[in-house]
Amino acid sequence: MLLLAIETSCDETSVALLRDGCVLANTVSSQINIHQEYGGVVPELASREHLRNLMPVASQALRQAGVAPDKLDAVAATRGPGLPGALLVGLRASQGLAFALSKPFVGIHHHEAHLYSPWIGGEPLSLALDEFQPNLSLIVSGGHTMLVHVAAPLEHRVLGGTVDDAAGECFDKVAKLIGLPYPGGPELDRLAREGEGRAHNFPRPMMRDESHDFSFSGLKTSVRYFIRDNPGVLEDGQRLRDLCAGVQAAIVEVLVAKTIRAAKKLDAKCVTASGGVTCNSGLRAALNEACAAEGFALRLANPTLCTDNAAMVGMVAHLRLARSGEMTPLDAEIAPGWKLTEA
Ligand code: KG4
Ligand code: ZN
Repeated sequence: MLLLAIETSCDETSVALLRDGCVLANTVSSQINIHQEYGGVVPELASREHLRNLMPVASQALRQAGVAPDKLDAVAATRGPGLPGALLVGLRASQGLAFALSKPFVGIHHHEAHLYSPWIGGEPLSLALDEFQPNLSLIVSGGHTMLVHVAAPLEHRVLGGTVDDAAGECFDKVAKLIGLPYPGGPELDRLAREGEGRAHNFPRPMMRDESHDFSFSGLKTSVRYFIRDNPGVLEDGQRLRDLCAGVQAAIVEVLVAKTIRAAKKLDAKCVTASGGVTCNSGLRAALNEACAAEGFALRLANPTLCTDNAAMVGMVAHLRLARSGEMTPLDAEIAPGWKLTEA
């Protein structure tokens, strides 16, 4: 089965081609340069950029895969959650393509796509379902932070999530406070590697809380107060690097502690992590260490598949079509507020 998948839920325009669940092409065009000037994603600009970029990105992916559109057997796109205008571009384009080709269409939940991305690997990239184990999964991105129990492929239950800012949002907001360009997460990570986290003791919100929820807005506020009271910190290279390391340590410690606690509670044997923040070097190292110490297997999404991409969307579409032939109507609407529990 030859499948084309589109992802346009936020600020990445991506098109992937998969043959029988193997990735032939996964083209991603990031809009970071456009939004950087505004310090965050501007929804209207995002939709316009998707409109501008989708056809060139699709053409490039088709060329790289060496396939013609009339050979497609199915089309998929992210249906939600995400920015309404951005979702509309990818959803309507894929529904139009499926209509023109008289082929099945599948609308995919964006978090479900992240959820199974740690199982994508090998050359060519494919879903390593023979290696699948029931797992406790951490999804950490710019928009979401959640813990999910995955009993079997496509059988998952959300345990908890953030009650305010997402982990990536906290990285980005703190980075903005210290004057780093958007999105600040990767740059803060880079500076933190040369800093000493123990120089600070920022709050670890809800870390000891028995619930599976997270909260990061208080941490951001305490960094704001720290900078207000210590303005010199921004001018001093080493103090700035220590500040970044201190913030990163606080975020990572909460994420890891709550993930490991949930994994123990649910008697999971395996932990997985996905989403943009899974690129963070501190988080990857800390999860490795904690899982080794506690005896959990660990699967981290490949860094190239942590941030938004259409390959992970296509993988879930392939799984759904192969398992049940499940299709989405061609007039299905976008679902900007779609909850993973309803997927
Ligand atoms: O999954 P993603 O591409 O988009 C959403 O669905 O939100 O994640 C983007 C987020 C941004 O907040 C970005 O700052 C964060 O992932 N991020 C990082 C790193 N790389 C990306 N945060 C911390 N450290 C990184 N290395
Ligand atoms: Zn995402």
